[in-house]
Amino acid sequence: MPKTAFITGVTGQDGAYLSELLLSKGYCVHGLQRRSSLPNTERVEQQKQNGLNLHYGDMTDATNLLRLLNIIQPDEIYNLAAQSHVHVSFEVPEYTGNTDALGVTRILEAMRILGMNGHTKFFQAATSELFGRSTSGFQNESTPFYPRSPYGVAKLYAYWMTVNYREAYGTFASNGIMFNHESPLRGEEFVTRKIVKSVANIVNKKQDCLYLGNLNAKRDWGHARDYMYGAWQILQYHQPDDFVLATGVAHTVRNFVEKAFSCVGINIEWADYGVNEIGIDKKTGNTLVRVDPDYLRPSDVEVLCGDSTKAKKLLGWVPNVSFDQLVSEMINSEMGTT
Ligand code: NAP
Ligand code: GDD
Repeated sequence: MPKTAFITGVTGQDGAYLSELLLSKGYCVHGLQRRSSLPNTERVEQQKQNGLNLHYGDMTDATNLLRLLNIIQPDEIYNLAAQSHVHVSFEVPEYTGNTDALGVTRILEAMRILGMNGHTKFFQAATSELFGRSTSGFQNESTPFYPRSPYGVAKLYAYWMTVNYREAYGTFASNGIMFNHESPLRGEEFVTRKIVKSVANIVNKKQDCLYLGNLNAKRDWGHARDYMYGAWQILQYHQPDDFVLATGVAHTVRNFVEKAFSCVGINIEWADYGVNEIGIDKKTGNTLVRVDPDYLRPSDVEVLCGDSTKAKKLLGWVPNVSFDQLVSEMINSEMGTT
């Protein structure tokens, strides 16, 4: 019998890669789709052709989740749905908590009510944002949490509910503590996709300048396809557990900008400091990057860099795509050269 999976957040970046992976493995795949006034299934059109089943629902609607889980009876649940934008979470903290924190409780309770704990496994998309202001050089499963945003705080609740249901009810519930992962399918308001999109627009003379916030922030950027393979591996492990997924290499936003421009033959040099800092095209002298204070967050996470030794040792998980390969793939996709 093929396994059945239910993916919340299937229409997002990670949902697209995970549904593609599970369909290729012969799973019967069901996904949760939010109602929207414009189509929101662009990323999973191919998967729909390949048998992906979509169901309307929302993480804020407990009865809907209960009814869907009862009908689908999945072997594996991947909870990827979230209001996932950290800066936006400062504007909509209550909604972020309702979706990202209480949404997890709704699924875990539905599993308990429906008597699924014996056979259904649950994956929670936890985040390196849990570490927030951590002062440790590399963050792993033992590093203390210190979230710095309503998003991080909501995800902290979700992390502990996942652990608590595992300990209280024996639910096969695991957290993947994932560091930033990107791809050509990344939402356009996240910094990596925003940068590559602007670089392509600047080359094509559709935009003059790229406006950014904190250029000093350092992130451990990997490829979403690798992280979704890790999510699947986490649920194939013989027992539920929590795993950090990370590359172990961090770069600043400034480095990402330099690399993205260098992919199209433009060398950036930096001048001035703080909100006055600018990135100049070395050859033409044109200012291509500026700081816009609107993109600065009330509190930001300065450095994230993960240690995924546990995932490597117990799951054999290693990321395949390097930082340079990731930036090149994103630029090529944006320039239409792939
Ligand atoms: P994403 O592209 O923003 O996708 C989020 C998904 O959640 C979309 O399908 C979205 O639906 C759905 N969603 C949002 N609110 C919902 C609600 N109230 N009810 C039902 N569905 C809802 O995010 P992603 O990058 O794929 O990330 C997937 C998960 O991993 C998220 O939980 C995120 O917090 C977590 N995570 C991501 C990263 C990363 O670097 N990408 C790292 C660590 C953890 P629409 O398409 O309709 O908007
Ligand atoms: N979005 C954005 N836009 N970020 C900017 C900008 C800008 O114009 N300029 C600088 N940044 C900085 C942010 O302040 C942050 O420090 C860093 O770039 C990365 O921002 P995002 O790409 O928005 O990602 P994130 O790290 O805040 O959150 C992502 O990764 C988390 C895992 O660490 C999201 O995918 C979260 O859902 C995920 O949990």
